Amino acid sequence: MKKILVTGGCGFIGSHTIVDLIENGYEVICVDNNSRSNPRILEGVEKITGKKIKNYKVDICNFDDTFAIFQENEDIEGIIHFAAFKAVGESVEQPLLYFENNLVSLINLLKCVQEFSVPHFVFSSSCTVYGNPNEIPVTEKTPPKPAESPYGYTKQMGEQIINEFAKASSAQCILLRYFNPVGAHPSILIGELPIGRPANLIPAITQTAIGKLPQMQVFGNDYPTRDGSCLRDFIHVCDIAHAHTLALEYLRAKKNNLQCEVFNLGTGNGVTVLEAIQTFEKVSGVKLNYVIGPRRPGDVVAIYANNDLAKKQLGWLPAFSLEDMLSTAWKWEQKLKIDQKFYNEKFSELN
Ligand code: WQD
Repeated sequence: MKKILVTGGCGFIGSHTIVDLIENGYEVICVDNNSRSNPRILEGVEKITGKKIKNYKVDICNFDDTFAIFQENEDIEGIIHFAAFKAVGESVEQPLLYFENNLVSLINLLKCVQEFSVPHFVFSSSCTVYGNPNEIPVTEKTPPKPAESPYGYTKQMGEQIINEFAKASSAQCILLRYFNPVGAHPSILIGELPIGRPANLIPAITQTAIGKLPQMQVFGNDYPTRDGSCLRDFIHVCDIAHAHTLALEYLRAKKNNLQCEVFNLGTGNGVTVLEAIQTFEKVSGVKLNYVIGPRRPGDVVAIYANNDLAKKQLGWLPAFSLEDMLSTAWKWEQKLKIDQKFYNEKFSELN
């Protein structure tokens, strides 16, 4: 059986990827210390797939504990590495926390890849590596600009570490640069569980719409874009998840030309913040309570993907529309209102 180790599998993208992997015939084990995620999300994964997921509650910054997982699972055929801290604002306040957590964990994993000759390694990267691009859409060849945050630097440095590691090992690696992952699985059994006040746009919209937040701010409407608000490439989390399965299939079929290849995962459509709000109001029927506030430091003005390479090489084709993204995000928020106690109980015990 094709066994895949998913780090950060209790997280937003990780949990959706586990579902897609299982639906495509993979056996999956998870490692997640639940410092930023809720283990109960795996109950949703199990409801969708019918499979119980084993989670090793281990901090992969601890090498010995991580090594022990590989000793217990000598048949790991691939690793998908999601586990990392990802809050841009927090990374600015606590850069060393981010460099230590995101890079030590990566290096520990790569040491295990080497030691146990794991053939395939897929890394969760981000469009944040492009910084503020001079030209859009960005391709994989668009030169990275200085990152806008320590979080962004950990993604840029992570890519470089894997690139150099791949040159010196037999492992075949893929870096997937996500644009803005949003939405929830159509079953509405799993979705995003932001911790505290959401920094990201879509959970801020849905929490405001459901009344969890009294009001939200649009961080600036004086940018040089078609309506003054920032422009992004929102992509459904299930489309992102399926790209990971396709990336593994691509490596298993030895279709890769290089030992470390990069792919953009975006729809190729740019949408502004105000357009996202208008679309949300249309699909939800809810008038959103927002005000225009000051710009947020570090925000990229406009970015969206050229996704031709992932389409051509991986055979990937985003299937969900912006309306699908926003309606599933809204349905998940409405479900959370009912299940909040269920998720909070477990989470409060753990943190
Ligand atoms: C999008 C736009 C905000 C909240 C970051 C990381 C990226 C990934 C996703 C981890 C911006 C505006 C937001 C709000 C707003 N992180 N906004 N009001 O910054 O594009 O990407 O998160 O995987 O790597 O860089 O996403 O959703 O925070 O912001 O106006 O309450 O929405 O100013 O223009 P971002 P975001």
